[in-house]
Amino acid sequence: MAAKNWTKETFTLNTGSKIPAIGLGTWQSQPNEVRNAVKVALQAGYRHIDTAFAYGNEAEVGEGIKDSGVPREDIWITTKLDNPWHKRVEEGINSSLKSLGVDYVDLYLMHWPSSTDPSDLKKHYPDWDFKDTWAEMQKLPASGRVKNIGVSNFAIKNLEKLFADERTKTTPAVNQIELHPNNPSPKLVDYCKEKGIHVTAYSCLGSTNSPLQSDKTLHKIAEAKGKSPSLVLLMWGLQRGTSVIPKSVTASRIQSNFELDGWELTDDEMKQLSSLPDRFKVCGDSWLPVKVFFGDDE
Ligand SMILES: NC(=O)c1ccc[n+]([C@@H]2O[C@H](COP(=O)([O-])OP(=O)(O)OC[C@H]3O[C@@H](n4cnc5c(N)ncnc54)[C@H](OP(=O)(O)O)[C@@H]3O)[C@@H](O)[C@H]2O)c1
Repeated sequence: MAAKNWTKETFTLNTGSKIPAIGLGTWQSQPNEVRNAVKVALQAGYRHIDTAFAYGNEAEVGEGIKDSGVPREDIWITTKLDNPWHKRVEEGINSSLKSLGVDYVDLYLMHWPSSTDPSDLKKHYPDWDFKDTWAEMQKLPASGRVKNIGVSNFAIKNLEKLFADERTKTTPAVNQIELHPNNPSPKLVDYCKEKGIHVTAYSCLGSTNSPLQSDKTLHKIAEAKGKSPSLVLLMWGLQRGTSVIPKSVTASRIQSNFELDGWELTDDEMKQLSSLPDRFKVCGDSWLPVKVFFGDDE
């Protein structure tokens, strides 16, 4: 079978919508750099941009989209409901749409299963949790302002809780979670697949200053393929059936991270990368008022 041209591939969600396999991440992309990064990415052929209210850069992301000249309807935009906004879902989406300068987003995610009290970010609401938030989010697609709804940072335990709630009528279209060879979470990925939830891999390069960038196994494979370690990490994510959203504000990296057509990793290379001995998460839950991770592969 011929290797895929991943830059043109999409994954079909349980709603029938098609999410482009490769997107540009924008966490920690500063307002003065993200506008250009988004423009460069879209002009290089990316058709999927991942942002969030919490990144503080939705307005600049929106400007970058306009600067690119690529029609809005050709672009997949994901943004996320921030934790202190769980009781204000309507307000949250309206604020994001206004900042982005668009009248709909393709995917709206609950950023974390933490309904944080906005008057004290160390506290969780006593009378509200993510199940209540989801009940509100389910109303959004009917308005046309949100094409798909999903979750992020949901472990199996919390997905089970969500499904057990009688108000849950909509299965999340996507669960966006941390995935890279130091945190491959095969059980969670398989669970989502079984339930018809598409998985997007965040921190797919191992995030900022990643130890993965100097991993020996990764380098050996990258050398053998004649590809950069970053490209090998992205191909690993794609071949597992997850969409990937590498972040960069560097034009040359944005462009080179998109060289994902016409080559592939062998089963053995995939296996080697999935079996690295070092296991850890980059994005923990210690900063949240509630525990959301329950092991390295929930
Ligand atoms: N849902 C969530 O809770 C959540 C959490 C974390 C992340 N995310 C999303 O996932 C996206 C990706 O995750 P991430 O930002 O944590 O990290 P990442 O994409 O794994 O890694 C980004 C880092 O890699 C560098 N980089 C990019 N391409 C490179 C290349 N070809 N060679 C060497 N270094 C390279 C970037 O540097 P430069 O920018 O300086 O080029 C940056 O320091 C985020 O931006 C965000 O959109 C979501």
